[in-house]
Amino acid sequence: MRIVLLGAPGSGKGTQAKLMVERLGLLHISTGVLLRNAAKRGTELGLKAKSIIDRGELVPDDIMSDMVEERLGREDVADGFILDGYPRNLAQAKSLDTMLERLGKPANQAIQIDVDLEQLIERIARRAKEQGRADDSGEVVRNRMRVYHEQTAPVIDYYANRGLLTHVLGDGRVEEVLERILSVLNVNHAPA
Ligand code: AP5
Repeated sequence: MRIVLLGAPGSGKGTQAKLMVERLGLLHISTGVLLRNAAKRGTELGLKAKSIIDRGELVPDDIMSDMVEERLGREDVADGFILDGYPRNLAQAKSLDTMLERLGKPANQAIQIDVDLEQLIERIARRAKEQGRADDSGEVVRNRMRVYHEQTAPVIDYYANRGLLTHVLGDGRVEEVLERILSVLNVNHAPA
């Protein structure tokens, strides 16, 4: 399975992807994690990305497509993957299609996790207190939401028009959301 996981900041993409890895044995590729790791390592790309992330803006498309293409070119993606955080605008969606076609591994499912704005803000505020993630504070969160609505939301229609999209309600317990996703994927619900 090659799955594109979509949703606003705080919708649970990372949380669900981790659980899907356990249940489905797929590889989780999170561009947010790749960027934060590069920033921690202090690479040139990482440091450039950090200043952009800390403002809640998108890292330029050429940097992102190089990063994702490199990751998708490795052998461990052979058994399938969950892409979390990419694509984030229409240019990235088109670029991803080209990459996957070239690799002979087109996406077969896009899942949009829907959560209302009030809950998103609550979850991010809680994480800010618990984990102190730099881009989880006031004005930056508002900017991330604005960027999501302006640039990322059109990607939902992109996948809908290609017949690949299913919406999943992202509220309720984490396990309930997972069951909804597994049901979309037609995966046995019994715990592994
Ligand atoms: P990224 O790391 O991708 O952040 P994001 O999309 O803003 O997503 P979040 O990590 O905030 O949320 P999530 O949906 O993964 O939810 P989570 O499971 O963590 O990107 C960060 C930045 O990197 C971007 O702003 C951008 O600058 C840059 N970037 C990344 N990709 C890029 C790209 N392709 N192009 C350009 N720039 C890019 O859950 C959130 C919280 O809620 C957690 O605390 C979790 O425990 C909790 N939670 C989850 N599910 C539930 C539930 N059901 N009930 C209660 N709490 C829950």
